[in-house]
Amino acid sequence: MITIDLNGKTALVTGSSQGIGQACAMVLARAGASVALAARNEENLDRTASEIIAAGGRVELLAGDLTAEGQTERVVEETCARFGGIDFFVSAAGVSRRTDPIVTTDEDTDLAIDLKLRAAIRVTKAVIPQMRKRGGGAIVYFSGLSHVHTSEFHGSGCIPNAGLAAYKHQLARRLAPENIRVNLINPGTTDTPRYVRQTTRIAEITNRTYEEVDAERRAELPMNRLTRAEDCANAALFLVSDLASNVTGESINVDGGRCDVVRA
Ligand SMILES: NC(=O)c1ccc[n+]([C@@H]2O[C@H](COP(=O)([O-])OP(=O)(O)OC[C@H]3O[C@@H](n4cnc5c(N)ncnc54)[C@H](OP(=O)(O)O)[C@@H]3O)[C@@H](O)[C@H]2O)c1
Repeated sequence: MITIDLNGKTALVTGSSQGIGQACAMVLARAGASVALAARNEENLDRTASEIIAAGGRVELLAGDLTAEGQTERVVEETCARFGGIDFFVSAAGVSRRTDPIVTTDEDTDLAIDLKLRAAIRVTKAVIPQMRKRGGGAIVYFSGLSHVHTSEFHGSGCIPNAGLAAYKHQLARRLAPENIRVNLINPGTTDTPRYVRQTTRIAEITNRTYEEVDAERRAELPMNRLTRAEDCANAALFLVSDLASNVTGESINVDGGRCDVVRA
């Protein structure tokens, strides 16, 4: 029987108060890793932490806005202070406000880039020295395919995805000799609070009802179901584990076949 045992390992998971990041934190903790949770909503973080503790896991809760000055460094320092180092960084923090690309504002663009791209790069730079001390590590970015497989209302949300795909390639090459692997997951249309927000927003922009847009989005899914946050988390578990010890610079689409011809 193949098992993934992450006992003795530590993961920092951003965007872990809900959705995909939360599922990643739960799955990694279930596999034995100590997990540091970073996001803003303390109530949601508390709930996630309680579930991990109830299941016998070890968790540190780091509430804060990752776009604020000094926060990215703080979450890395505090994770190391609590658990003695970092082996895995899973970046699932992201915001995207669906807009018409010709009316998208500087504020929308800054918000999308500051969190999903700039904060992810800052955390990455802070975790690399820690991974070097451990003799290796694994980084997983949750990105998305909206920069290559798009609809007309992604607005600025697609920009950090292009940036992360480019950065991941370069970083993977740079860090491969040091046994630090860097991979990226493109979630499909995933059943998280973001799905409801986006469906509501598309309905507003296109003057339709939520139900109409929801039905249209679901009709595009070859496996006839939304991707589950756990589907994405299981892919992250594989990528950080020794089962993927020779996998770096890769992108995995977890989308039920929706973007089967696109990899980025
Ligand atoms: N769901 C999908 O269909 C889908 C598809 C393609 C790509 N993705 C990407 O996958 C990632 C995760 O998506 P998701 O569906 O899980 O999104 P989600 O449900 O909206 O969760 C986003 C997470 O980011 C955190 N976050 C937002 N702003 C933050 C800030 N300023 N500082 C720290 N944390 C912040 C949120 O927590 P707080 O509000 O507590 O801060 C939350 O934990 C995102 O990058 C998203 O773009 C998702």
